[in-house]
Amino acid sequence: MINFEFKNPTKIIFGKGEIAKISNEIPVDERVLMVYGGGSIKGNGVYNQVKAALKDYDLYEFGGVPANPEFDILVNALQLIKEKKITYLLAVGGGSVIDGVKFLSAAAYYDGDPWEILKKPVRIFEGEGMPFGTVLTLPATGSEMNSSYVISRREINEKRSSGGPGMFPRFSILDPEVVRTIPKNQIANGIADAYTHVLEQYMTAPSSADLQERIAESILISLQETAPKLMAEEFDYGAAANFMWCCTMALNGLIQKGVITDWAVHAMGHELTAYYGIDHARTLAIVAPSHYRYNFEAKKQKLAQYAQRVWGITQGTTDEKAERAIIKMENFFHSLDIHTKLSDYVADYQETATRVKNAFTDRKWTGIGEYKTLTPQDAYEIVKMCY
Ligand code: NZQ
Ligand code: ZN
Repeated sequence: MINFEFKNPTKIIFGKGEIAKISNEIPVDERVLMVYGGGSIKGNGVYNQVKAALKDYDLYEFGGVPANPEFDILVNALQLIKEKKITYLLAVGGGSVIDGVKFLSAAAYYDGDPWEILKKPVRIFEGEGMPFGTVLTLPATGSEMNSSYVISRREINEKRSSGGPGMFPRFSILDPEVVRTIPKNQIANGIADAYTHVLEQYMTAPSSADLQERIAESILISLQETAPKLMAEEFDYGAAANFMWCCTMALNGLIQKGVITDWAVHAMGHELTAYYGIDHARTLAIVAPSHYRYNFEAKKQKLAQYAQRVWGITQGTTDEKAERAIIKMENFFHSLDIHTKLSDYVADYQETATRVKNAFTDRKWTGIGEYKTLTPQDAYEIVKMCY
């Protein structure tokens, strides 16, 4: 097991009706900016619950953060933060709203051009940002209990990640009741995103970190078993609660400790969102199978372990199990009605591999993946296999 340090300071408040507890977490003299998305919270009662919980506060609002949070919109929120002398941020939404608030938290205390925060490949914000909490409305990204965020700038077709130890939410409220109103395509996205988060931290080389591997496998199995209940018509609170906690546990730092991690699927996937606006989770389902096929030799031991422990495939050689594992993974995405080829989403896709290669070359991303050995040319080959 590789040496590691682990600190996750986010307080989780989990369960039905818990949104009312926000006021226990934010000191009453704070000037609070509540940030939300396109309005789903107004249709499902979450907005009213938050307003009721914060009725004694100096409360301001900023709505309209879009999916794949947009830099050009967030700078308007930044202006409001300065004008109203905001001291505390509250994200009420999915990963996009939470990520937007993390960016605002960092930018609020940054004197230069806010794009600078995202300009370098991964610009780590080491200091404390403006304090913020979250009310999660869409299980998927794990952003509610991690310190990363991803911001898009459509004007220049960029989607950039950042983060750092100062970017953990102070608290996050996870009420599984919010799952009731999530459209099925977004539930499918959430399952696929969390599933791929686990794969990025697991599908590398065999390790001696038995506990992390077993936890990772448990999250995968739980997501597989919960998926049909979540995709069924009737709302199932137990399934929603498991889904929510799986998504948080998939990317709160725990399973990546002591092991090597990949993240090349996300790096390539972000490009597909930047060029074509494809939902984040769907880009991962497009890239992952090709990535595992392209890197088959390096990953086949772990693919075979996944086949055996997660899918119960006990017959065959290591190669055979590993090949079947990738097919199982693809079938799982298909069971969520998620297509796994770029041509299923975009008609004009022929230049994509070249665009990815050029973008990675320009940013000097010369080595990605768990061994930092995948070059822009490898990314080109992988993306071509996704067509
Ligand atoms: O905007 P509203 O009206 O709220 O509607 C949203 C949005 O249209 C809707 N929604 C959310 N909760 C709902 C609901 N609709 C009905 N009922 C509810 N309870 O769902 C739509 C999608 O929301 P969004 O926040 O965009 O989805 P998600 O949580 O999947 O976030 C995706 C973003 O997170 C980034 C992605 O790149 C993408 O930008 N990621 C962040 C990560 C992190 N911070 O650690 C890791 C991930 O790998 C990912 O990259
Ligand atoms: Zn993701």
